[in-house]
Amino acid sequence: MSEIPTTMTASVLTGIGSIVLEERPVPVPAADEVLVRVLSVGVCGSDVHYYAHGRIGDYVVDQPLILGHELSGVVAAVGADVDPARVGERVAVEPQRPCRVCDFCKAGDYNLCPAMEFYATPPVDGAFCEYVVIQSDFAFAIPDSISDHSGALLEPLSVGIAGAQKGGIKVGDRVLIAGGGPIGIITAQVAKAFGAAEVILTDINPARRELALRYGVTRTVDPAQESTDGLDAHVFIDASGAIPAIQAGIRATRPGGTVVLVGSADEIPLSVPDVAMRELNVTGIFRYTGTWPIARQLVADGQVELDSLVTHVFGLEQVEEALTGDGADDSLKRIVLPGVRRVEDPVAAAGGARS
Ligand SMILES: NC(=O)c1ccc[n+]([C@@H]2O[C@H](COP(=O)([O-])OP(=O)(O)OC[C@H]3O[C@@H](n4cnc5c(N)ncnc54)[C@H](O)[C@@H]3O)[C@@H](O)[C@H]2O)c1
Ligand SMILES: [Zn+2]
Ligand SMILES: [Zn+2]
Repeated sequence: MSEIPTTMTASVLTGIGSIVLEERPVPVPAADEVLVRVLSVGVCGSDVHYYAHGRIGDYVVDQPLILGHELSGVVAAVGADVDPARVGERVAVEPQRPCRVCDFCKAGDYNLCPAMEFYATPPVDGAFCEYVVIQSDFAFAIPDSISDHSGALLEPLSVGIAGAQKGGIKVGDRVLIAGGGPIGIITAQVAKAFGAAEVILTDINPARRELALRYGVTRTVDPAQESTDGLDAHVFIDASGAIPAIQAGIRATRPGGTVVLVGSADEIPLSVPDVAMRELNVTGIFRYTGTWPIARQLVADGQVELDSLVTHVFGLEQVEEALTGDGADDSLKRIVLPGVRRVEDPVAAAGGARS
């Protein structure tokens, strides 16, 4: 363990729109934890939201916070109760720490644990820094066939898996997805892997509709031009958070079908006849439980492809750029490399223009 430094550089959100680099102590793993040297971190919409607004719902950034919760790394040290042979292992991190003793945890629904500590959710620091600690069973070994970036993106893939599981997608289903951002595009791939015969994706952004066709989507719909009423989807998954998209998706779901609300939206007017008289199952997901082994398998087997979602790669000094460059048509997944200070050409570092 002698090669581990005592301090590290962290990119810290100090207030709305303010990111500074700070030296922080390298965390020391508790008995049941591993210390992970962070290799790759995906930028999530929630990171952008905390940076721009300082809060998401009741979670308020009222003290300095390290953002970033989609990560891969390499085990640098282990706590007293962890097998020392794990040092050097490449891992994908499930970025949460449930209490393990409450009713929800005991029932296996640990994502609903009221005492959950989740990376980059105030006041718990995330991974835009050189080292993090995580309980050892939440650091999943990844094979060489899974890149550092894909390892990080097992996190949004886990959201897609949780949504597909909640929707009960099965062989032959017609699945409607609203929103062709990272979550929608990943969910489309998962739907295919789960056996969906048709995956229809709606997005108001033409670039994202076009892109979606490369990821298992069988047909795209521009909601401004075409209605999905009568589509008779077995499962509708909202990955847009757009109220009209949720309402249209409910109308497009066949009797007895399932609506899964993944996107973040506020209250919406709900057509009770559409739900009651057609016996729709309307549900949602909050993150995931037990998805990393499935995510790892789907990527290792080539059923889900994540590397090509990466459009920009930044160094630790460029986190602000990584957080503010969203909205561009050519941007899908932005990555931060905590072990690198600056990346001269973020697009080239991502592998250049997608071919
Ligand atoms: N429930 C969870 O645990 C969980 C986890 C991660 C993300 N999320 C949520 O999932 C959503 C998707 O995440 P993302 O990173 O892909 O976001 P994103 O913003 O990149 O993608 C959303 C997409 O929806 C499209 N859209 C907007 N209005 C639309 C409309 N009316 N019809 C169809 N498409 C429309 C946008 O053009 C965009 O491409 C977000 O709301 C995010 O907060 C939820
Ligand atoms: Zn995320
Ligand atoms: Zn609990």
